Amino acid sequence: MSPAIEVSDLTKRYGDTLAVDGVSFSVEPGEVFAILGPNGAGKSTTVEILEGHRDRDRGSVSVLGIDPAKGGREYRDRVGIVLQSAGIDKELTVREVLDLYGAAYTRRRPLDEVLDAVELTEKADARVRTLSGGQQRRVDLALGLIGDPDLLFLDEPTTGFDPAARRRSWDLVRNLTAGGKTVVLTTHYLEEAEQLADRVAVMSGGRIVAEGTPESLRANADRGTVIRFALPAVHAPLSELIDPLVGDASGRDRRIEIVTMAPTADLAHITTWALGHGIELQGLVVESMNLEDVYLELVADDAGATS
Ligand SMILES: Nc1ncnc2c1ncn2[C@@H]1O[C@H](COP(=O)(O)OP(=O)(O)OP(=O)(O)O)[C@@H](O)[C@H]1O
Ligand SMILES: [Mg+2]
Repeated sequence: MSPAIEVSDLTKRYGDTLAVDGVSFSVEPGEVFAILGPNGAGKSTTVEILEGHRDRDRGSVSVLGIDPAKGGREYRDRVGIVLQSAGIDKELTVREVLDLYGAAYTRRRPLDEVLDAVELTEKADARVRTLSGGQQRRVDLALGLIGDPDLLFLDEPTTGFDPAARRRSWDLVRNLTAGGKTVVLTTHYLEEAEQLADRVAVMSGGRIVAEGTPESLRANADRGTVIRFALPAVHAPLSELIDPLVGDASGRDRRIEIVTMAPTADLAHITTWALGHGIELQGLVVESMNLEDVYLELVADDAGATS
């Protein structure tokens, strides 16, 4: 199967700003591909070029086998787009907006089904202006779905959603990909990327600084596991606890933190020691790095390299 998206050496400059600096990646059909990165990294510019909303200066782009710069109606009919800020007429009702935008598509989904998917059935006849911020964002999401697209571009789709609505929208995206659709997503919510994405690209300063599955990004940046607990007043010598550890221990007051590449062995030693002394380890926590830790390291490394 040929890739749904193939981008090679994509470059875009606005005056003195090199917004996208030689980016290459590909996305397979049915995949969710997430682009992460700080404000101004070039995410929206990249996505807008793929959508056909923006010209590129250099590089090749193929989306569903079509160059979006040349793709006309046939191309727009097959892609759904949720812009970072969509300029819809807020005096129209939700139903009117969906009718208007839906008319451009040959394969449109039933309006009630789309309203239900974004949980706006009750607001169908309300003017967009009267909706809350998160509800207005759901109208944008509905516009991306109305044409039953093969490929959906979502630029920060859940900004302004309450946490429960965000989680439900993840189910919506999962249902789309289960039906074979491809999704390109930008987000500042690392958990969203971790939950949804098959693969993640981290952009910074117009370049992709890391790419892979959420798991592989975490594994590559593995700085170990953190074990934390607090000790009650102990009479046993602490060296018995600390010296045999593989990892590095630090402590203040009675709170101990151990960073280790051998969490299983260290945890066994710690709990054996505690049980031997009849001690309960208070607030015992064992954590591996999550995607947010990894992301912050990547972006910080890159900022250090370019400044
Ligand atoms: N129309 C424009 N004219 C001039 N410069 C622009 C324009 N659009 C974007 N830029 C610049 O290009 C760079 C990349 O912007 P872009 O919108 O792609 O970032 P982003 O990664 O989507 O950021 P955010 O997370 O804030 O949405 C920024 O430095 C921005 O100022
Ligand atoms: Mg953006």
